[in-house]
Amino acid sequence: MSRPPRPPRDASRRYHDRVARQYDAIYDDPYWAFHDELSWRLVKPHLPRDATAACCDLGCGTGKWGLKLLKSGYPTTFVDHSGSMVEQARARVEEMGGRAKKATLLVADIVDLSAIPAESFMLTTAMGDPLSICSDPAAAAREMFRTTRPGGVVIATADNKLAALDHYVERGNLDALEQFVRTGRTNWLTADERERFELTTFTPASLRRLFERAGFEVLGVAGKTILPVRQNKRLLEQDEAAVRRLLALEEELAKDPAAAGRAGHLQITARRPAAGGAE
Ligand SMILES: C[S@@+](CC[C@H](N)C(=O)[O-])C[C@H]1O[C@@H](n2cnc3c(N)ncnc32)[C@H](O)[C@@H]1O
Repeated sequence: MSRPPRPPRDASRRYHDRVARQYDAIYDDPYWAFHDELSWRLVKPHLPRDATAACCDLGCGTGKWGLKLLKSGYPTTFVDHSGSMVEQARARVEEMGGRAKKATLLVADIVDLSAIPAESFMLTTAMGDPLSICSDPAAAAREMFRTTRPGGVVIATADNKLAALDHYVERGNLDALEQFVRTGRTNWLTADERERFELTTFTPASLRRLFERAGFEVLGVAGKTILPVRQNKRLLEQDEAAVRRLLALEEELAKDPAAAGRAGHLQITARRPAAGGAE
């Protein structure tokens, strides 16, 4: 079977440029709040102890994670290939008054971060799956390694290939299922065909391999969310106590790394080995 035509290279940029203004509203619901809480719980233990250590937020969008880093006091670089997203992030940074001086905003593709010197950051986040969206995840992982200081950490998310299998089985198209299992590639479908962009999905093991090949030591691969609450938001809508209980269940289930296989998204934590071996 011939593959469907490849989406245009700048399709993701076009899409994100168009949605930048409404972006925060699209993700404003109890499921994404729960998902964000799980994400942040995995980031917090890796915040640099040195408050002057530079951090970076790749695929920053409207700035959700970079703003948290900036608010925590770290000089933070915000990077996105969508100029409109960077403008949204800039507006939020400027609302922070004096802290804004510690922010750098950059329109760039994560597969080519040549505008950023080597060994710049102690912590880099790449949340909301820019690694899955970009044209060359291996090149992006190499750029993450190059721009990370020895001993520094990268925390990145990606779409889980295992979770996307149901969609292909439900479609009943065996050719498409085989192709997806072989390549891990799928499309983000938007109404406007020119905005449809290709996504690379990963299994927990293939995501780990991607980072190891780039030179990282992988500290963990977590799944978000293990419980299928996205399809069952009622549980999240009850009260704060219910959300706390669900968070505790996620933490309990996450103790078995195999549980990540159920989740829609994977979050990897990887360290660039310290110069001269162990930290
Ligand atoms: C789903 S959004 C996540 C935004 C933000 N990190 C968050 O978690 O709210 C993905 C972001 O990655 C950006 N992105 C996708 N591919 C990229 C690439 N190759 N280089 C830079 N940014 C990219 C998009 O423009 C978009 O802003």
